[in-house]
Amino acid sequence: MQTDMPHLITPSILSADFGHLQEVCEMINKSEADGFHLDVMDGIFVPNISFGFPVIKAIQQHTKKPLDVHLMIVDANKYLERFKDVGADILTVHIEACANMQRTIDAIRKLNMQVCVAIKPQTHISILAEIISDVDAVCIMSVNPGFGGQTFIEGTLKKVQDLKAIILSRKANALIKVDGGIDLSNYMSVVNAGADILVTGTAVFGAKDPVKAIEALKINVGL
Ligand code: DX5
Ligand code: ZN
Repeated sequence: MQTDMPHLITPSILSADFGHLQEVCEMINKSEADGFHLDVMDGIFVPNISFGFPVIKAIQQHTKKPLDVHLMIVDANKYLERFKDVGADILTVHIEACANMQRTIDAIRKLNMQVCVAIKPQTHISILAEIISDVDAVCIMSVNPGFGGQTFIEGTLKKVQDLKAIILSRKANALIKVDGGIDLSNYMSVVNAGADILVTGTAVFGAKDPVKAIEALKINVGL
């Protein structure tokens, strides 16, 4: 299945060189990337700690491209406004970390940010049925959240296809984002399954020429 809209690429800076953040921003700015994917981890929801407000704010000062902040934290509700203040355009929140997903969705909307709901590989898409019409996107994790550089879980493709069918049958507008383990060898199968947005970390920052890697990942080679 192919979508009409060309797929988007949002590099995850998790595997970038944090000693040269400004250059990372400039590289993404001049590339064909459609935005930044910023992975915030608290050491509780996931077994890793990444970065927080100051880093997001620094990135915001060096780009006009949208910032998608992927919250892998408990108690996201406490910090929604602060993420808005440092420049988040899209908040991606895990359904497994929210006591009341609808309340979190409404709070994000009130702050004029886009809402994306993320699910871990073990979470079934049926959990999304009640909220699919209320979100801008769903993020299907194709690795266990917490680390860059993991292997893509193949079962994700079926999940993406099934979610696409639900979105179409409900006439919902939610986009499908897939995050983790995506590279040049598998990105088109993810797009063909129905994904609109691909998050890519290692495939971009592990490449000799990250701008060229992004360009390659944007090419829709068809079925
Ligand atoms: C994993 C993160 C991903 C990850 C993507 O918890 O949410 O965004 O950094 O990186 P790669 O492409 O290396 O899997
Ligand atoms: Zn992520």
